[in-house]
Amino acid sequence: MKTVDVDLGEDAYPILIGGSSLPEVGEFVEERLGRIDGAVITDETVDRLYGDKLAGALEVAGHDFERVIVEPGEESKSPENAKELYEKLVELELHRDSFVIAFGGGVVGDLAGFVGSTFLRGVPVIQVPTTLLAQVDSSVGGKTAVNLADGKNLVGTFYQPELVLIDPTVLNTLDPADVRSGLGEVLKYGLIWDEELFREINKNQALFEEFDEPAELERVIARCCEIKAEIVTEDEKDRGIRRILNFGHTLGHGIEAGAGYGEMKHGEAVIWGMIGESWISSQRGYLSREARKEIVGILTGFDLPPLPLGLTEDKLLGYLRQDKKSRREAINSVLIRGIGGETTVEEVKDAELVGAWNYLKELGVEEE
Ligand code: GLY
Repeated sequence: MKTVDVDLGEDAYPILIGGSSLPEVGEFVEERLGRIDGAVITDETVDRLYGDKLAGALEVAGHDFERVIVEPGEESKSPENAKELYEKLVELELHRDSFVIAFGGGVVGDLAGFVGSTFLRGVPVIQVPTTLLAQVDSSVGGKTAVNLADGKNLVGTFYQPELVLIDPTVLNTLDPADVRSGLGEVLKYGLIWDEELFREINKNQALFEEFDEPAELERVIARCCEIKAEIVTEDEKDRGIRRILNFGHTLGHGIEAGAGYGEMKHGEAVIWGMIGESWISSQRGYLSREARKEIVGILTGFDLPPLPLGLTEDKLLGYLRQDKKSRREAINSVLIRGIGGETTVEEVKDAELVGAWNYLKELGVEEE
């Protein structure tokens, strides 16, 4: 079992990472919070696969809880669903010391985190992420959210969990697109922070195909959590360095939206986005051509889904302007100066974004 501490003073918490740690979740909750009551918020898929395992572990440790199940998918991350969950928590007579366990991928983590952070002005939240993307990124750092019709994540809080418990053995049941989606975020950590991690993932792609090297998998997940913890500790509220975690996300959001939400996984779109933003970085002379070529060669080797080639430049720019972060300001992007080297967040011009999109389209067509 590995522990990564998120060192946020009064809001500090541990991330526990270990194969088969799910059966011990009851004890970890007891150690952290004492024996108390609460709710496990999860989705139908995760509940079917692992609900009994988690419930058994909580029961053995004597916790009193109910399972509250939402439908899988982005649509569950709505204010209407949050309201239904509040009503359910009232019905269950949860009080301020009760826990909310967010048991699932990014959608459940964001939704349950949001509900837990606002119900009774905030109850203890425990994140038990079950997708690679949630384990290496969204369960750590305290961002919670629901979507509005106008855009994703438009309502949310910064609210740190009490504990994040990661059991990599649950990743075995993920489908390859979800694995690739999480890998997008792993590769991102490599490109913005840790060259060795980037090269290691490239060399050992089987790590996330076979899942037969649990110790290595645990180490890679822990490394990602360490990087995220370091960044979040420095900038919890996303005003400075935390923004570098958005590498690939500017173009990625546009591509994800252009494909139609749900058609392409978030992290897959981020991989395309990182290729495009590496191209902008090299056009500006920040990134050498050789480094860009190497990055592109490696990232395109990950069996990416096809780009939405019908997406026009105007539509792409429209999606990028809809993004909440750029509605009233220029479009910003993370630019890199090497693999795992220096990064900056800078305004990018429409022409650069369009240039990157055309570059991607050419790559996408050549690939087929
Ligand atoms: N996923 C980016 C962040 O947590 O800031």
